[in-house]
Amino acid sequence: MKEGNRDLGKLFQFLARDEARHAGFLSRALVAEGIEVDLPHLGGKRAATWFPISWVIYSVYLSEKIGYWRYILMDRHLKANPGEAFAPLFDFFEPWCQDENRHGDCFTVMMRCWPGITKGWRGKLLSRFFLWSVFLTHTLTVCERGEFYELLGIEPKEFDEEVIRRTNHTSKNAFPWVFNLEDDKFWDLRNKIIESFRAFVSTKGLTKPVKLMKFVSLIFKQFALPMEKTNALRYDKDVQFTGGDILNFWTDK
Ligand SMILES: [Fe+2]
Repeated sequence: MKEGNRDLGKLFQFLARDEARHAGFLSRALVAEGIEVDLPHLGGKRAATWFPISWVIYSVYLSEKIGYWRYILMDRHLKANPGEAFAPLFDFFEPWCQDENRHGDCFTVMMRCWPGITKGWRGKLLSRFFLWSVFLTHTLTVCERGEFYELLGIEPKEFDEEVIRRTNHTSKNAFPWVFNLEDDKFWDLRNKIIESFRAFVSTKGLTKPVKLMKFVSLIFKQFALPMEKTNALRYDKDVQFTGGDILNFWTDK
């Protein structure tokens, strides 16, 4: 790591340490269920794919923040309904989601220190693409694995909506554009996308390509929805990644 990036190097060391801790939570939960997975060697079997750093920063920010909202909302629900926590993994959700939250905050600061990443058409396109793809993936995975959420006493569609609303709102701190979720267009399309995806999966034969076209047209409509501008750039002159301030996010370093 270059001399000038010492703080950034330290930051990534803490991020890596926290992620290793999460792998440890998973490992302990799997052992408790009698499942053995060789976690340290799992990643080594896949070839690395390199993406532009701006894509990495947008997507990691969002995965940290959506992860935070998913875990904290589940944790709050399970604390209110302790009888529904059927696996030991849920005991780790609170420290896990606090880690994810501060990881997201670190990426917010990185984005503010690098204004080029959020400016102009580039910022608009990156915000749109990553919010859309992360929300779409969330909707499809939550609604297709609805039984898991129902086992916890959580209504999957309501959970999906709450997570998307909170993540979109939080993203106003970092992204120059976010979706406008106050009008019903986003949610009408979200419901149609779920129906269309189920119809596509359950159809066999000649009508399958037609169902696929319908699904693709709906997701592109959602992609093209109007967005609203945020004030995320307001700190770009004041915040610089020079000191160790960001490292204070870690109280247990
Ligand atoms: Fe993380």
